[in-house]
Amino acid sequence: MQKRTLGKSKLEVSALGLGCMGLSHAYGPATDTPRAVSLIRAAVDRGVTFFDTAELYGPFLNEEVVGEALAPVRDQVVIATKFGFTFGDEDHPYALDSRPEHIRWAVEGSLKRLRTDVIDLLYQHRVDPNVPIEDVAGTVKDLIAEGKVKHFGLSEAGVQTIRRAHAVQPVTAVQNEYSLWWREPEAELLPALEQLGIGLVAFSPLGKGFLTGAITAGTTFDSNDFRSTVPRFSPEALQANQALVELLGYIADDKEATRAQIVLAWLLAQKPWIVPIPGTTKLHRLEENLGATAVQLTDEDLARIDDALRQVKIQGDRYPAVMQAQVGR
Ligand SMILES: NC(=O)c1ccc[n+]([C@@H]2O[C@H](COP(=O)([O-])OP(=O)(O)OC[C@H]3O[C@@H](n4cnc5c(N)ncnc54)[C@H](OP(=O)(O)O)[C@@H]3O)[C@@H](O)[C@H]2O)c1
Repeated sequence: MQKRTLGKSKLEVSALGLGCMGLSHAYGPATDTPRAVSLIRAAVDRGVTFFDTAELYGPFLNEEVVGEALAPVRDQVVIATKFGFTFGDEDHPYALDSRPEHIRWAVEGSLKRLRTDVIDLLYQHRVDPNVPIEDVAGTVKDLIAEGKVKHFGLSEAGVQTIRRAHAVQPVTAVQNEYSLWWREPEAELLPALEQLGIGLVAFSPLGKGFLTGAITAGTTFDSNDFRSTVPRFSPEALQANQALVELLGYIADDKEATRAQIVLAWLLAQKPWIVPIPGTTKLHRLEENLGATAVQLTDEDLARIDDALRQVKIQGDRYPAVMQAQVGR
């Protein structure tokens, strides 16, 4: 597997990482732990060295699964996790909390669950408007000095917040949604990251599965599948957005690749410091997705993809309103 480097501190990771969230969180029932562990280990065997989890995923279960899976190869892989929430009851499942004492508490829990003495990349999951970002960056700086964390990251933070954080503790990577149907990061975020020398970890690179063609206008989602609440996955939006899937299908056929591979290869072609982290619970899809690193898109291919995107107006917000309010701060 080819490698990429994130940030000026040159964190080296496989060109594609594995997003582990869906094994325990957001997309229906959790995968049984032995099967999840074996999927993660299959990724290691195929050259993946970059694994993404968060305290929130489960909560807690996903870190435990990732910790168990990677313990035998701990020194060969990069584990990224995230803090920033406090957890309540069913009615109030989680709330933002990036107070320094809470970050420290979260990190102790993550270290235990991940069965490690150091977190390679620690992100703030969402910006907490009640805690100055300087205090967050300062806390992570202290954790780095104490040897508990190696690199600092932010997720879905606004550009001004990134600059302020970076001035206190250099940011190695920002994790944001970025894909063929969510290109907003191109306006302000990518230029800022390029200027500051910060890597981008692209989450939901397959459009939460939609861009692969596996989800059709008639697909329905369980009530415990987060997509059942996402406007972009409403029946009307799915119907309207199929046009993009269809156009991607023609391009994939011409390249003798799958849509998932085209979509990931497109991300890899944008900047050498972008690392997509597709998620899957299935071995055959893991192998398919990793095949994207062998797909070379020419300038003509990229122009054709741009052209396809111009023909389709994507319908539906990418998040429900309450989650949308937490991004870009
Ligand atoms: N920082 C954040 O706020 C944030 C937010 C969301 C996600 N993330 C991270 O980003 C990672 C990836 O994002 P994501 O899981 O939201 O979305 P994604 O990677 O775009 O899509 C995952 C979905 O696509 C399906 N899929 C995967 N490969 C496929 C293929 N080749 N063909 C057809 N379907 C395929 C998966 O289903 P199967 O399991 O059935 O294959 C799953 O439902 C997460 O695991 C998480 O680590 C971070």
